[in-house]
Amino acid sequence: MCVELVEGKTAVYGIIGDRVEKSFSPVLQNTIGREMGVNMVYVPFKVESGRVRAAVEGGRAMNIRGFNVTVPHKIEVMDALASVDETAARIGAVNTLKLTENGYEGYNTDIIGLKKCFDERKTSLKGRNVVLAGAGGAANSAAILAGEEKAAKLVIVNRTAEKAEALAERVRKYYDTEVEVIGYDKLMDIAEPEIFIQTTSVGMGSDETPVAEKEFFKNVGIVVDIIYTPWETRLMREAKEMGAAAVNGFDMLFYQGLASFEIWNDMKAEPEKTLELKKKLTEFYRGRA
Ligand code: ATR
Repeated sequence: MCVELVEGKTAVYGIIGDRVEKSFSPVLQNTIGREMGVNMVYVPFKVESGRVRAAVEGGRAMNIRGFNVTVPHKIEVMDALASVDETAARIGAVNTLKLTENGYEGYNTDIIGLKKCFDERKTSLKGRNVVLAGAGGAANSAAILAGEEKAAKLVIVNRTAEKAEALAERVRKYYDTEVEVIGYDKLMDIAEPEIFIQTTSVGMGSDETPVAEKEFFKNVGIVVDIIYTPWETRLMREAKEMGAAAVNGFDMLFYQGLASFEIWNDMKAEPEKTLELKKKLTEFYRGRA
C-alpha cells in the first residue's frame, strides 16, 4: 500500500507490542495487501504492558479491522477479547485479532506458520520423535503443534526444568503424544531424534548454539530454527554438516503473517502466489538485513 493511496474506505490494521520499531510485520502485511489487491494499510502501535486492554478497546472503537500482537502482550491480550480460538487457547497465547460485531476474535497463527515450514518440505510430524529446544513463548506453539500433529514423542529440552515441565503438562492435558523433559546434558541420550525445533534465543545475533555436540544431528532429518538473524545460525550450519535439512525462522514469520492476512480477509493465497510473495519478501528482508 502506497501512502498516497490511503483513502476513506481503506481498512486499517496494525501490530501491538512494546518493541514494534523492529518489527518486519508492517512491510510484510502491506506487501501482501498490495500484491493480493486488498485496500488496506497496516501500521505499528507501540503499547506498554498494562495498557493492552485500553489499546484493544480503542482499536474496536476506531474500527481497526485486525491486529497482530507481539512480545510481550500475547498472553495479556487474551483477557480483552470476545473469543479465543481453541488452538490458541491450548497454546495460551494469541497473535492475531480479527474484528467482529462483538469485539475481537483471537487466533494464533504462529502455529500455522511453523506447520507450513514442515508442510512445504513434505514433512509430517505424525508418528515422529520431535525434540524441542526451549520452553518460552515461542516454544508453546511448537509443543502444541507436536500434539496436534500426533507426534509419537516430544522431548522438551530446557535450561530451567520447571518451565519445561509446565509446558509438558499443557501438552499432556490435551494430546496422547508422549512428553519427556530433559536438560541439555542429556541431549545425546535421545533415541532417534527425527525432528528438531529450536526456539531459544541462543544464537540470535551471535555464533552460539544450544547444542554442544553437532553429532547430535546425525540422525535428525529436519531442523527448524526460529531465529533468522543471522540468516544461517551455527546450529543450522552444524545440522547441515551432519546431513540434516535446516530451515531458518523467516519462513515461519512469513507464513504466520500470511495466515493472519487470510483470516482477516477470508481468503486463501494460491500456492504460486504464496511462493512469489515469499520470494519477494525474503529478498526484501535480506537486502535490508
Ligand atoms: P521467547 O518468547 O522468544 O521464546 P522467552 O520466553 O524469553 O523467549 O524464552 C527464551 C527461551 O530461551 C527459554 O527457553 C530460555 O530458557 P530458560 O527457560 O531456562 O530461561 C532459553 N534460553 C535463553 N538463554 C539461554 C541460554 N543461555 N541457554 C539455554 N537456554 C536459554
